[in-house]
Amino acid sequence: MASLTIRKLDDAVKTYLRLRSAGNGRSVEEEVRVILGDLIQGHAEFPAPSPAAASPPAEAPARPAARALVHGLAHGLATGQAGVTLIIGGGIAAFKSLELIRRLKERHIDVRCVLTKAAQQFVTPLSASALAHERVYTDLFDPESEFDAGHIRLARDCDLIVVAPATADLMAKMAHGHADDLASAILLATNRPILLAPAMNPLMWNNAATRRNVLQLRRDGVIMIGPNAGEMAEANEAGVGRMAEAVEIAAAAVDILRPPQPRPLLGKRVLITAGPTHEPIDPVRYIANRSSGKQGFAIAAAARAAGADVTLVSGPVELRDPAGVTVIRVESARDMLHRVEAALPADIAIFAAAVADWRVANEGEQKLKKTSSGMPPLQLVENPDILATISKLTDKRPPLVIGFAAETEHLIENAKAKIARKGCDWIVANDVSPATGVMGGDRNTVHLLQREAEEINVDSIQVESWPVMTKEQVATELVARIAKSLGKNS
Ligand SMILES: Cc1cc2nc3c(=O)[nH]c(=O)nc-3n(C[C@H](O)[C@H](O)[C@H](O)COP(=O)(O)O)c2cc1C
Repeated sequence: MASLTIRKLDDAVKTYLRLRSAGNGRSVEEEVRVILGDLIQGHAEFPAPSPAAASPPAEAPARPAARALVHGLAHGLATGQAGVTLIIGGGIAAFKSLELIRRLKERHIDVRCVLTKAAQQFVTPLSASALAHERVYTDLFDPESEFDAGHIRLARDCDLIVVAPATADLMAKMAHGHADDLASAILLATNRPILLAPAMNPLMWNNAATRRNVLQLRRDGVIMIGPNAGEMAEANEAGVGRMAEAVEIAAAAVDILRPPQPRPLLGKRVLITAGPTHEPIDPVRYIANRSSGKQGFAIAAAARAAGADVTLVSGPVELRDPAGVTVIRVESARDMLHRVEAALPADIAIFAAAVADWRVANEGEQKLKKTSSGMPPLQLVENPDILATISKLTDKRPPLVIGFAAETEHLIENAKAKIARKGCDWIVANDVSPATGVMGGDRNTVHLLQREAEEINVDSIQVESWPVMTKEQVATELVARIAKSLGKNS
């Protein structure tokens, strides 16, 4: 959504707007909306201020100035950026809000900062304005911005208000409806969502008064992120009270700003595997592969975003749990199979894990030692085949079972044979030769193989080759195909 700073328009345009809006009994912002609306609906000319308005003074702008205004507005609308009013409270965590400005801006969000009097003890308006590329607001009675009730504009000419850090004092004022400075007046006058990032000493956070205020604010519909647990700025103090990190607050803001997404998998249970498995040789060594788990985690996040109830069974990987997904961490192929079976029933199962085909039969109970007789003989036995086991279930088989085929040669041919051999419905085939950089990388080039018929006939398997995409894009596309196929079959 666009935001427009009336204050930045030239003086002639501001005078025109002020007179016209006063004459029509509207705020300047509303007047601008009316002008734009008229223009878009084809009333090309600018009507003069209503007769009720005072006569325009000699310096009232001529039409070109008003046209400039409309061009400015049109540009603002075209940029389509979301806007956040960021209120920085007077806490030690205020320095993290400077980073938050950057995190919001790199997500293409316009940021207008308001610093309380106490906040200015911790960070300077200059730092905030340099990072936001905008003037910073500090004073309720600022004649320059209050000529058109600037606090109301800051309260409403944005898509979201973020308070970070939200101090105990600021939250108390909000909970009790105070409006004796710019920040509290904005918070009282807004009709936009409010996101608070509380930050304070754990004793302040746990104080009965703060608990009451937090409860009240939550009841009033205020959204909160954090505080997190950890070390305090005060020496030797730890507990709940640290402000959420800037990236967490920015992600929460993006979530609130994002228009509601279609949720085609709402009510569906999706089971996904990801990552490698580790097959123990002895208590300290294992056989593994280079899978990073990124593709499976991306699919889990995409399925969750589409509204599904997602369980992700993952081998050992260095990835954070996707939000809202139940993540079960396992080590070996046998653990993975047990946890997959326990997670059934599911509507859709997607097996993206690179499960080791073999494990060591004679796993050492103690660490194997070098001996003079040479290398210890490692005997390999086949691991359970998770994809085939689940595809061939008679009672709890998910209606749609999707496997992954990682091949280094004869990709399509091998993937078709895999559908037939394992009995799954679809295969996502990808070339994992080292030159492709797929294993561990961020991009993937995949082919989607689908069998439409109940009977598996290799010749009737449809093959669709997708262009090179990020793993997130592959995940989104796959989820879209799943949603489409469910729609077709329901
Ligand atoms: C060094 C110092 C650090 C402070 N840190 C915090 C804090 O992290 N959280 C908090 O709620 N208050 C903190 N305070 C107290 C607030 O600054 C004080 O309550 C102030 O009135 C809050 O102003 P505000 O409502 O503009 O945020 C701190 C005070 C000082 C002197």
